[in-house]
Amino acid sequence: MSDLKNMNLILLGAPGAGKGTQAKRIIKNYGLIHISTGDIIRNEINSKSELGKEVQEVVSNGNLVSDDLVFKLLKSKIETSENGCLFDGFPRTLNQASMLNLEVEINKVLFIDVDDDVVMERITGRRLDPETGNIYHLEFNPPSEEIKERLIHRKDDTYEVAESRLNVYREETEPLIDLYASKGMLVKVDGNGTPSEVEQKIADELFNGVKV
Ligand code: AP5
Ligand code: MG
Repeated sequence: MSDLKNMNLILLGAPGAGKGTQAKRIIKNYGLIHISTGDIIRNEINSKSELGKEVQEVVSNGNLVSDDLVFKLLKSKIETSENGCLFDGFPRTLNQASMLNLEVEINKVLFIDVDDDVVMERITGRRLDPETGNIYHLEFNPPSEEIKERLIHRKDDTYEVAESRLNVYREETEPLIDLYASKGMLVKVDGNGTPSEVEQKIADELFNGVKV
């Protein structure tokens, strides 16, 4: 089991594929450290720092923050973490993959493959709990009435922005699938089932069926 804890993994997939949802389950099951560039960037925006102000519009429009800026935000996290990191939403350009390669040895890349129409449904119905960081969906993972009021609808979760994000994903991020496949590092999982079904497929493909 200690081997799993020392693995560095990349979680790859379209916006709304379920990376964050599965990341939470993977860290709970296997004790990895969750490093999400989306979360890091949103925290920066919410803190109203200079950097946050700089990237706010880019993110709201569904475009990517520059490679240098993302890496700057990420570097201190990488430097202070031991092995056993789960990178969620990073890298998402070929250049970012090269940057990461210089810093960390990646063991596997988990690609969650989901149909485009499913992705759009998942994104537009998503709500976030700012207190716990939990991810909900109005239909697929509904919150209780008690917490519903405090939930946040991400600004980039409108239909229009989600479409742009999907286009950016196809252009900038999809080439990483071939890159990691050619290195024999890619593990592809069908992400179209329920969260628990996908969790089980990940356990089967990546962790030999073991759930701790
Ligand atoms: P980021 O936060 O990384 O967003 P993303 O990649 O677009 O992915 P999402 O967080 O939207 O989706 P997810 O795959 O995590 O799905 P989730 O589990 O929430 O990035 C946001 C922005 O930050 C980017 O657009 C960019 O501007 C910037 N950025 C971030 N990283 C960057 C980088 N490296 N370089 C440059 N810029 C960067 O699930 C979605 C919904 O579906 C939820 O409601 C959930 O409840 C539901 N759901 C999940 N799984 C299932 C299931 N199996 N069945 C039914 N419903 C499900
Ligand atoms: Mg996410």
